[in-house]
Amino acid sequence: MTTQRFENKVAAITGATSGIGLDVVKRLVAEGAQVVAIDRDASAGLELQQQFNGQVHFVQCDVTKVDELKVAIETAESHFGGLDILFNNAGSGGSRQTAEEFDLQGWDDTQALLIRAVAAGTAYAVPAMKRRGGGAIINTASIAGLQAGFGPLAYSVGKASVIHYTKVAASQLSVHGIRINAIAPGFIATRIFGTTLGLDRAQAQSLADLAVARNSAPNPMRRAGQPQDIAQMVLFLASDAGSFITGTHITVDGGMTIGPRHSWDTSIPAPMAEAFGLSPEEIQAMSQIKDKLWN
Ligand SMILES: NC(=O)c1ccc[n+]([C@@H]2O[C@H](COP(=O)([O-])OP(=O)(O)OC[C@H]3O[C@@H](n4cnc5c(N)ncnc54)[C@H](O)[C@@H]3O)[C@@H](O)[C@H]2O)c1
Repeated sequence: MTTQRFENKVAAITGATSGIGLDVVKRLVAEGAQVVAIDRDASAGLELQQQFNGQVHFVQCDVTKVDELKVAIETAESHFGGLDILFNNAGSGGSRQTAEEFDLQGWDDTQALLIRAVAAGTAYAVPAMKRRGGGAIINTASIAGLQAGFGPLAYSVGKASVIHYTKVAASQLSVHGIRINAIAPGFIATRIFGTTLGLDRAQAQSLADLAVARNSAPNPMRRAGQPQDIAQMVLFLASDAGSFITGTHITVDGGMTIGPRHSWDTSIPAPMAEAFGLSPEEIQAMSQIKDKLWN
């Protein structure tokens, strides 16, 4: 029997109708929670509400519109009587501008989605959490916020901001018994890549399914990352098991960022030879000369 870790708990989740957010909704419901599912996708949201009648209440909302976001988060208290957990998760790839081509609208839209909605959502959740005597907030960051090379510039900066925001906010919210943490996922097979490339919902899901079917695995664990890999960490941080954890980020990436690719993929040569300006063959030849001289 599934344990009911979240009985009598109410959660608000943004980006709730797809990928990581959707998996978190299903797991929280399975463990007894009531969930306000927040997303801009109305048809997927209403379907979700119907599927979990009574346990999920859908609110259509574009999280970049802070007035809509406030109403959506306040629905937790007006509809279910309180708020214990907030998962600030909605996101997309955002503007693809480089450091040379500054695009004001693209920059602002990306930061409004990736960091402003996290800050606003948190602020709107605090009054209801204070009335409950505490709460847990989890923000979705990314390994793109930790290192270069994992996402566009505006996206990466937005996700780095989420990580630092989480620390500073934790220092201010702990007095209310509110914990706030971030998760930095690695590559997770969801619709985000397809939708960022302009595919529709079904096509984007097929692309994600393909990554799972091919077990596309650019990580030392050698398997495709899936929404449940992140969702399980979200539930851990939201549960009493995470009660001593605040103001940090947890990387969940199958080890993708433990070191450069050659550190875990033996098909990639180590850059040692390159550092000396030598080819791998010259390095090989050198060891043969040494063997002749000293044996
Ligand atoms: N999939 C990955 O590899 C990966 C890696 C690191 C971080 N992330 C982050 O994880 C989070 C969830 O993404 P996912 O991979 O599950 O993708 P997804 O595309 O499956 O889900 C994203 C959800 O956010 C919603 N959304 C997007 N913009 C919105 C807006 N303005 N208002 C309301 N809802 C909005 C979408 O409708 C969708 O339901 C995002 O913040 C993303 O940046 C994903």
